[in-house]
Amino acid sequence: MIVEADNGAIAEAARILRAGGLVAFPTETVYGLGADATNGKAVARIYEAKGRPRFNPLIAHVESLDAARDLVEFNGEAVALAERFWPGPLTLVLPQRAETAHRISGLVTAGLDTLAVRVPAHPVACRLIAAAGVPIAAPSANLSGRVSPTCARHVEEDLGNAVDMILDGGVTQAGLESTIVAFSPVPTLLRPGGLAREEIEAVLGRPLKDYREAGVLSPGQLASHYAPLAGIRLNASTAEPGELLLAFGPGAPDGALNLSPSGDLREAAANLFAYLRELDARHPARIAVMPIPRHGLGEAIDDRLARASAPRP
Ligand code: TXA
Ligand code: MG
Repeated sequence: MIVEADNGAIAEAARILRAGGLVAFPTETVYGLGADATNGKAVARIYEAKGRPRFNPLIAHVESLDAARDLVEFNGEAVALAERFWPGPLTLVLPQRAETAHRISGLVTAGLDTLAVRVPAHPVACRLIAAAGVPIAAPSANLSGRVSPTCARHVEEDLGNAVDMILDGGVTQAGLESTIVAFSPVPTLLRPGGLAREEIEAVLGRPLKDYREAGVLSPGQLASHYAPLAGIRLNASTAEPGELLLAFGPGAPDGALNLSPSGDLREAAANLFAYLRELDARHPARIAVMPIPRHGLGEAIDDRLARASAPRP
């Protein structure tokens, strides 16, 4: 059930979460499928609803840096990143604090001794977390392996009655999941996302290690992910017979759905998942995607497209 996210709906959503229910809610990146991170049965329902493999750990969404400090051990670089970018599209993977680790369900961490934490910037998400009074475990609110939802209707398409309430807060602004940084112990980029690598490196004063070279694999980094039903062909300049073109930039053919006619990577990121869904709904044999420059948010867009085009398991 989609409900406009006013005060009454947020209060009701918080009650549902405390009672062990599932609430889908907007963040500035994508819609999340939330459950009380301290309630194992509630978190289990997330995995069921998404059809998600059990070994894939979840992000705990909290209200503030202080609330995150209660759950994980920060180092100096992590504090600098949190102070600069929270609330916002950055997730930090840090060791759990021994004193509070027992409060978080083992299904959230999938048995790891680290926990992913993030303070989202969307007002509805902030008010929901505050009203619930518990950390909220929330993956993106899509079926496992499908593209992430950027509006309430996408959530309903994928999850329908498996979720107790869908809080509608409009279309999400970033459109890509958060950037994930772990410390192993050097800062390592586990997933490019809504915050560009360059911005993080500017604060750290050194380059981020890449998960591919670090050998630290976030369990979510399976090759095939974010997949629409149609196949994907990358670096296309035009559509071949049977294909629909997902265009980018001013040089694109007329009439094609264009991620950003002006070539703006932020706009392209915000449109990516909605446009993949829109093209998929027209049932082409394949979606042909024009090349996306690899700087700034282009790194995350390329990452999602590469996964969407990978062979299916
Ligand atoms: O923007 C976002 O991050 C959205 C919104 C809802 O906040 N959430 C999201 O969650 O994208 P999800 O579950 O789709 O992706 C979380 C990623 C997964 O790839 C998972 O493997 C990784 O975070 N992750 C979570 N905990 C981890 C940990 N302790 N160590 C390494 N990776 C972890
Ligand atoms: Mg996801």
